[in-house]
Amino acid sequence: MTSEKKISVLFVCLGNICRSPAAAALLHHLAEASSTADELIIDSCGLGGWHTGALPDPRMRHAAQHRGITLASRAKQFRQDYFDSFDYILAADMLVLLGLHELTSSIEQKAKIHLYTSFGTRYKGEDIPDPYHGGDAGFERVLDMLEDCCEGLLVHLNLYKP
Ligand code: 4NP
Repeated sequence: MTSEKKISVLFVCLGNICRSPAAAALLHHLAEASSTADELIIDSCGLGGWHTGALPDPRMRHAAQHRGITLASRAKQFRQDYFDSFDYILAADMLVLLGLHELTSSIEQKAKIHLYTSFGTRYKGEDIPDPYHGGDAGFERVLDMLEDCCEGLLVHLNLYKP
């Protein structure tokens, strides 16, 4: 059954060039496989604006492409009005979560914020490690973790059709 209102999900990390663009593309990829992508609005952004306009980091693009996922988004910075326009605002790690909390002005806004790992089964409560300053293995590790988070989110939203 198709619900009337789409569910909107915003993935937030620090730079919007590694973790959050990969999470957004992965969630879309998994929802497509479940034929439920039409029920979602998925986007990503960074707490910081240092990389605004940039494609995702080439190392993350390469690792994602290897799993059949093309990353083509352009980096943008979090905006206050996203608290109104998104149902779920997901933070890659505790630093990002606390940064988002500082920007809130109501309990309702705060209630929308969760860690990416809140909805998965294998990494509950963990940070998605920032892979930017590390080697290639870090990007694979992030993608492995994101797969679990995104599958869990789809299950939570009742949009996972194995
Ligand atoms: P992301 O990784 O938050 O996963 O996009 C980072 C990318 C860039 C920087 C930090 C984290 N930076 O400091 O430029």
